[in-house]
Amino acid sequence: MVHADRLAGAALAQKGSKGVPACMACHGANGEGQTASGFPRLAGQPEAYLLKQLQAFAGGQRKNSQMAPIASALDAQQMRDAADYYASLPGWRPQGQTRAPSPQYALGLRLATSGNWSKDVPACFACHGPGGAGVAPHFPALAGQPSVYTRSQMKAWQTATRTNDPQGLMQSVAEKMTDAEFDAVSLYLEHPSLDEKGK
Ligand code: HEC
Ligand code: HEC
Repeated sequence: MVHADRLAGAALAQKGSKGVPACMACHGANGEGQTASGFPRLAGQPEAYLLKQLQAFAGGQRKNSQMAPIASALDAQQMRDAADYYASLPGWRPQGQTRAPSPQYALGLRLATSGNWSKDVPACFACHGPGGAGVAPHFPALAGQPSVYTRSQMKAWQTATRTNDPQGLMQSVAEKMTDAEFDAVSLYLEHPSLDEKGK
């Protein structure tokens, strides 16, 4: 059993190492992600969740042409170090922007907080925690993720190209949802608020 070394994780994130690019080049200087390109936020995610994703990219249960070679180049110690480091950074917080109210944002809010019982879709926040802040160790934060990223993951479960979720929990959610619902909930989760105006 290897122990995580947070300083080594920080160095890997900032400088990379032999055959491994710096994580921050894509995931942002503080693990905040990049909204426009859809690179996910890593900061504040549960450590066990991050480690599991790195193992899944390396093992092929999760497919991505950018992350697969990077995860495969990491050894077990480096995976632990990176997961420990990113989990230690602060999670997403609302920054005071207000969104233009839209029917799409309102639909996203309903899906996240109440689900859609006519189709047996549970509320996202029932598992992912109030406000989508995540519940360690198994349920990642959804709040503040680029909408492009959230949407691509929903699609990946619906089409079974991401297959590493415990007991198929996310696949059974995604397979009951429409593209319009994916769009709405992804838009909402990029900047979630309990106010329909997104305050
Ligand atoms: C070239 C850009 C790039 C670099 C460099 C990169 N990543 Fe990623 N990473 C991505 C992309 C793109 C995704 C989303 C993959 C997908 O859609 O499944 C991702 C996803 C992840 C995830 C899953 C996040 C989640 O919420 O499930 C983890 C963990 C991760 N990267 C860790 C790392 C670590 C650690 C490093 C540095 C050793 C790193 N990445 C370097 C592009 C990159
Ligand atoms: C029954 C519990 C449950 C419900 C309800 C649920 N999820 Fe999840 N979700 C999970 C689990 C568990 C994971 C982690 C999968 C893994 O280990 O890779 C996850 C992961 C995710 C991820 C991947 C996050 C990342 O960083 O890659 C997204 C996106 C997501 N869920 C969106 C949603 C949305 C949107 C809803 C509501 C429509 C929802 N989930 C409802 C259990 C749930």
